[in-house]
Amino acid sequence: MPTPEAIIFDLDGVIIETDEYHYRSWQRLADEEGIPFDRAANDDLRGLTRRASLLKLLKGRVISEDQMQAWMERKNAYYLDYMGRFTPADLQPGVGEFLRAAKAKGLKIGLASASQNARPILHLLQINDLFDAVGDAFSVPNPKPASDLFIWVAGRLNVNPARVIVVEDSEAGIEAALRAGMLTIGLGSGERLAKAHLVYARLSAACLEEALNHLTRVQSS
Ligand code: BG6
Ligand code: MG
Repeated sequence: MPTPEAIIFDLDGVIIETDEYHYRSWQRLADEEGIPFDRAANDDLRGLTRRASLLKLLKGRVISEDQMQAWMERKNAYYLDYMGRFTPADLQPGVGEFLRAAKAKGLKIGLASASQNARPILHLLQINDLFDAVGDAFSVPNPKPASDLFIWVAGRLNVNPARVIVVEDSEAGIEAALRAGMLTIGLGSGERLAKAHLVYARLSAACLEEALNHLTRVQSS
């Protein structure tokens, strides 16, 4: 029976809970510019790039490219204020254990994040050494829900996409992984994860052995 050979993790909302900080940064920008925005609107930005998030926030308002750049930089400056304080204590519960269990099992470990801040965050969390390949917002032109980033990371890991498990919290991320022909674990709740092969509320509730058994059965059915 073919077994998974690699696990590719998303970063935001999986390895570290950054949603609140992205939310506060977008909210500050929106307030300064008089654009209606709230937490519910922010939930729709999960997994989207900075540019795609700004376009959603603008809801059809048209601004110049220079203004887009300036607003994205301003939002990111607000976010960096929070990010600069990240430490290993900010790792989501269960992540360290899950990563180490996967390593011990001989699985290759990858990261596939839509964020331009992914590499510095891995360093701040002191887990960069655990990853065999890191894909971020700079790796491919087409962001999630396109499959490109996951395919790119699988290539770096030298693993067939069909032997990869993806751990994701966003609808765009699950969609991208499915398009890449990968097995998926969704983290969280609600409709956004309906298409995932397996869903856990959080990684601390996941058992690697159980997940591998389940996903191996999915693969061979
Ligand atoms: C994704 C997050 O991982 O990265 C989004 O889910 C975020 O909320 C996106 O907007 C881009 O992040 P950054 O750090 O490049 O602005
Ligand atoms: Mg995410």
